[in-house]
Amino acid sequence: MVREWDPRTASSDEVASVLDTLNAVLAADLPQDPPWRESSLREYLSEVMPGERRISWVAQAEPGPDGGPGPILGHVHVLLLGDIGVLEVLVHPDIRRTGLGRELVLLAARRVYQEGFQSIGVEVVGDTPAIAFYESLGFTREYVETRSVLDLGAVDWPALAQMATGIGAGYHLEFCPGGPPDDLIEAYARAKAEVRDVDDGELRPSSYDPQRLRDSLDTLHRRGMKPYIVLAQHEHSGEVAGLTEVVVPAQHPTRADQYDTIVVQDHRGYGIDRAIKARMLLELRSAEPTLAEVQTWNAQANEAMLKVNAELGYRPDREWCEYSVDVAELVHRLDAAR
Ligand SMILES: CC(C)(COP(=O)(O)OP(=O)(O)OC[C@H]1O[C@@H](n2cnc3c(N)ncnc32)[C@H](O)[C@@H]1OP(=O)(O)O)[C@@H](O)C(=O)NCCC(=O)NCCS
Repeated sequence: MVREWDPRTASSDEVASVLDTLNAVLAADLPQDPPWRESSLREYLSEVMPGERRISWVAQAEPGPDGGPGPILGHVHVLLLGDIGVLEVLVHPDIRRTGLGRELVLLAARRVYQEGFQSIGVEVVGDTPAIAFYESLGFTREYVETRSVLDLGAVDWPALAQMATGIGAGYHLEFCPGGPPDDLIEAYARAKAEVRDVDDGELRPSSYDPQRLRDSLDTLHRRGMKPYIVLAQHEHSGEVAGLTEVVVPAQHPTRADQYDTIVVQDHRGYGIDRAIKARMLLELRSAEPTLAEVQTWNAQANEAMLKVNAELGYRPDREWCEYSVDVAELVHRLDAAR
């Protein structure tokens, strides 16, 4: 049975069942990734930025012989933001290739269409069945990034400590657990607005103005995701010359996510990129002692950043692709095929 599902009011058993399916999917498709935990999973699935909406559906198996509710074996949600709907679909490996994935996409797409949105975007992990799935539905590839993973157990810490201090005169680094200090929010937002060396997924919105930045930090906290920031401040002007952001999610706290890394144009060539990333890893080592890995996403053309990441010890893992489709075309095509 497929039905709309609200994670805010769902029973704990249902949230746990979604987690079981997610972990079965990870074990099948990304066996090197750590399994997710239940901590703040409900909040992760329900909290959104102001002005955004997430709508979810689940596919639940028939009741078992004891009459208790069957497990949730499929899940789809769409996040409505700006003019697109960002889709995520999961089908338990035991019941794949039965048409459930296609049915879930059609449900979500119909809603996105009714709500007046033009297109649907989705992040698709390379070398998994999802590539053939979305291509069979007519999605086209817009963008490819490489995910790289750093094993903190293999890091050369003394070398890293040197990198963290190898910064030009006139700058100092600041570690900010939780987010940038209030007196630097405006300068921080200016740095993000001026330039953005894409170091994360394109579908992840960046925050360019102070209010949006505050909202974004607040949303991260509500979703159980703890942000850490290292920024480089230009001493003469007080401006934020560079910043790097890492988030430790309660759902998989042994593997953190690298978000934006930015060095403002005027401040390039002073070793800021390398120094802020090295300092971040040093700080995380004491702030998050259970952390074992950090993952990052880079545009393949971003050679400078890939080089610094390789020096830090990041190893390319797999392709991470962004696909999109025109909603009206998708709905008409899928309806016609039924
Ligand atoms: C992608 C996914 C949703 C597909 O679900 P599904 O229920 O198996 O898909 P469907 O049965 O509706 O397949 C529809 C079509 O997609 C294509 N397709 C799906 N899986 C495929 C595969 N493994 N190989 C080739 N084509 C495939 C086929 O054309 C299929 O039609 P057909 O079976 O009539 O030939 C499922 O594999 C999944 O959950 N993957 C994980 C997705 C994800 O988000 N992962 C992130 C963490 S790893």
